[in-house]
Amino acid sequence: MTRDEIRQFLEFYQDLGVKTIYQRGSALEAEALPELVEDLNSLLPPSAAPPRVAPPRVAPAPVSFSPAMKPPAAVPPPPPPALIPLAPEGDTMEAIRTDIGDCRRCRLCEGRNKIVFGSGNERSRLVFVGEGPGADEDASGLPFVGRAGQLLTQMIEGTAAKEGIKILRPDVYIANVVKCRPPENRTPMPDEMEICGQFLFRQLLAIRPKAICALGSTAAKALLGTKEGVTKLRGNWQKWHDIPVMVTYHPSYLLRPYNQNAKREAWEDLKKVLHFVYD
Ligand code: URA
Repeated sequence: MTRDEIRQFLEFYQDLGVKTIYQRGSALEAEALPELVEDLNSLLPPSAAPPRVAPPRVAPAPVSFSPAMKPPAAVPPPPPPALIPLAPEGDTMEAIRTDIGDCRRCRLCEGRNKIVFGSGNERSRLVFVGEGPGADEDASGLPFVGRAGQLLTQMIEGTAAKEGIKILRPDVYIANVVKCRPPENRTPMPDEMEICGQFLFRQLLAIRPKAICALGSTAAKALLGTKEGVTKLRGNWQKWHDIPVMVTYHPSYLLRPYNQNAKREAWEDLKKVLHFVYD
């Protein structure tokens, strides 16, 4: 890897909101990235025209001006760096799976039976993102195969059929924010989401779907970095990088008997997504 590629790689993950990069047992903190990049600059042999990496941004000390002095015209901010390619070059689902390996990066590995990587069409124009595996998924290694999964299948296939769109569940891709079952099906913790989210992001970038459907608040939080609830976010397009995201209710929530209104709204959301992607 050239120095420029390493810099782009680090900036790319920083840009994704990833604060920690794991590589063969070591963890690099995002706060350390500027220093790391500086270290890399000094470690790598200088080339004919060494591409300098911007030093860490440090807030300048405040300057006071006497009334007679005119403050200098504001210095325009430097232009944004050239667009970093959305997918690390050559990344594939196979490479992501290999990198996950027999993952021990967070505490969720302790109680899991199977890592649930994701399933479906890896070239799909539509990806659904759930929260994390439940008991059935942990046992089978496949996402959304339990009760919530059956409802999700019905939602996808039922809505598509009604709308005259010829797709079945295997035509889309389905993955979760965390790939190992949280104990007692609790909500994944922020550090678990951050660690495992790196792999979800890589999956999304490798697939590059036309749209993403985020199922529930954990998926919404992981993709949009917002604390806003599903009720507020749903129904309108959001964005993860340049990819449109529709947030809707998690199927487990829709399984609760008193959520008839939410069910209707979820069907509306799904209709919107399917027409956007397949029309
Ligand atoms: N709930 C999820 O969020 N994901 C699954 O895979 C199953 C249930």
